[in-house]
Amino acid sequence: MNELKIFCPATIANISCGFDVLGVALDSVGDEMVIRKVGEKGIRIIKLEGQDLPMETEKNVAGVAGLALMADSGYNGGFEIEIYKKIKAGSGIGSSAASSAGAVWAMNELLGKPFSKLELVKFAMEGERLASGVAHADNVAPALLGGFTLVRSYDPLDVITIPAPKALYATVIHPQIEVKTSDSRKILKTNITMETGIKQWGNLGGLVAGLFKEDYDLIGRSLVDHIVEPIRSILIPGFDEVKQAVIDAGALGSGISGSGPSIFAFSKGISNAQAVAKAMEGVYNTIGIDYEIHVSKVNVDGVKKVP
Ligand code: HSE
Repeated sequence: MNELKIFCPATIANISCGFDVLGVALDSVGDEMVIRKVGEKGIRIIKLEGQDLPMETEKNVAGVAGLALMADSGYNGGFEIEIYKKIKAGSGIGSSAASSAGAVWAMNELLGKPFSKLELVKFAMEGERLASGVAHADNVAPALLGGFTLVRSYDPLDVITIPAPKALYATVIHPQIEVKTSDSRKILKTNITMETGIKQWGNLGGLVAGLFKEDYDLIGRSLVDHIVEPIRSILIPGFDEVKQAVIDAGALGSGISGSGPSIFAFSKGISNAQAVAKAMEGVYNTIGIDYEIHVSKVNVDGVKKVP
């Protein structure tokens, strides 16, 4: 096997109360990539469609993540990469993570799986370092492992997979404005009070427990962010209106997807997720901002081969 065509899922990071530690992979939105093993040394990005992104290996997240893997592999050949982007850069649903995770997952397969999934997360994090200045794992971990993931620790890296309740659906709306992760990280405060911490880790524990217990009400009650959302939501027009509209439509809860501007909501069942999509659309139709919208089940596989 010298070539793989893969699906690289979009992801929702943070999930309200889990800044930089929680994430979930989506099923119905993602990129495609083709990775080819070649004799010529190094990594070449030979095609990049769908987005205007750098094709130089050292400036592209897939290239940088791939180089991190190759440096540890002892492999003397090279790879060609084709990237077909469906996830817009700066959308908040893990565009850079999809490319980084896809590159390292496919290279590992083509080399006969020398690396564990956790090692792949580490390599893919180098792509995130290039994209946002910080090697966060809350998008690349779910993209590689599938389902919900919790980064319990960054040093040493310890990633826990969390089961996805069967009827859980995500609705994500992407108002067509771009928010760079690097910019939306700069505006965050670097300190929190003990009082805020107590509220935040109560919700984080509640959300993880809710996912394990398939307790949809507990999941909904726990989708609260006292730290990041109050600051970042200022960058997202219509944010408060969307939050209100989705609750009125019966969503379990909602928040900013990753670093925004996308907003996610969780629902029990697909028909509620579709009603929530209509409610979100209504807000942006009224404000007059274009959007893309996705309704998705949780992707429990992560990056996967496609025919
Ligand atoms: N945890 C990261 C952030 C995710 O919120 O900055 C970026 O998608």
